[in-house]
Amino acid sequence: MGEKLILAIESSCDETSAAVLLGTRVLSNEVVTQLQHTQYGGVVPEIASRAHQTMITAVVHAALKTAGKELHELEAIAVTQGPGLMGSLLVGISFAKSLSLGLDIPLVGVNHMQAHILAHLAEDCESKPTFPFLNLTVSGGHTQLVLVHSPVQMEVIGETIDDAAGEAFDKAAKVLGLDYPGGPLLDKMAQHGDAKKFTFPIPKVEGLNFSFSGLKTSLLYFLRDQQKVNSNFIEEERVNLCASFQHTVVTYLLRQVQRGLTSTQMNQIAICGGVSANSELRKQLTEFGKQNDVEVFIPPFKYCTDNAAMIGVAAHFLMHSDQYSNLNMVPLSRYPL
Ligand code: KG4
Ligand code: ZN
Repeated sequence: MGEKLILAIESSCDETSAAVLLGTRVLSNEVVTQLQHTQYGGVVPEIASRAHQTMITAVVHAALKTAGKELHELEAIAVTQGPGLMGSLLVGISFAKSLSLGLDIPLVGVNHMQAHILAHLAEDCESKPTFPFLNLTVSGGHTQLVLVHSPVQMEVIGETIDDAAGEAFDKAAKVLGLDYPGGPLLDKMAQHGDAKKFTFPIPKVEGLNFSFSGLKTSLLYFLRDQQKVNSNFIEEERVNLCASFQHTVVTYLLRQVQRGLTSTQMNQIAICGGVSANSELRKQLTEFGKQNDVEVFIPPFKYCTDNAAMIGVAAHFLMHSDQYSNLNMVPLSRYPL
């Protein structure tokens, strides 16, 4: 089977994105991040779906233009089927269905979490893991250790029992007075801080699962106590608080990675999802790989946070294993791997 020219659409949360791919070769990857949510301190579903509806046509046009392709040249339409916000997913899916029907080309519904992992196989990723490998997915909604047997066979061997890693960063950032989404801002602040200045307890969860809510609470209580003594505590110590909190989260993620590698006997670890853009995680994981003789795969920044290119890469592999969708496809707010 030759490589197909794919138009991919991602609208599961607050990024409206479209990409054009030839097989796994990304010809364009347009991403519009909705800034309307900042003032509310979190994604407002109703606003997100409206914004997707407003933007999607322009974003798709931009993706085609950048790729130098016309609608009639497309051979498949890929779209995020879930997990995500129902109204947001509906926008992308309805758009994709219309194109599939109008152009008479196949439709491929994609699992967003599977796509985050398969982003590693985009042609322009410098080094690619080989199957099987262990993957740590760390995003705003998910924290999972996944044993990746093949592009279409993935096994979750550990996941969070409460908050996701990205959520922990965002919530910590919020109490430290940073705007939403706070993860990237906290990362930036942390670069000027002392990661050893404060210590927070590493969560105690047996096995390969994760928990972040205790860590969040310990930060909250610590700030409350310190502010009783010094009302400017957060302001004065913000960079050190960011660095120390980030250090704790990353140390914890790495400990679970180590456990996962031991229990699966894997010697390759890949990371993906928004939090894989975190500079401390990238640094510590690279170091960890060198010290433990483990191959580490970190995606380029453009494939860390939500993007349609990864949806296209996933669709490429789904088509190779004959997994197509049809016009009865429905969005899935929950969609296990
Ligand atoms: O994968 P993603 O774009 O969307 C979801 O599918 O959730 O992940 C977004 C999450 C947010 O929680 C955001 O704060 C976090 O990734 N994030 C970061 C960084 N960049 C994005 N967290 C920590 N450090 C970063 N540099
Ligand atoms: Zn995502």
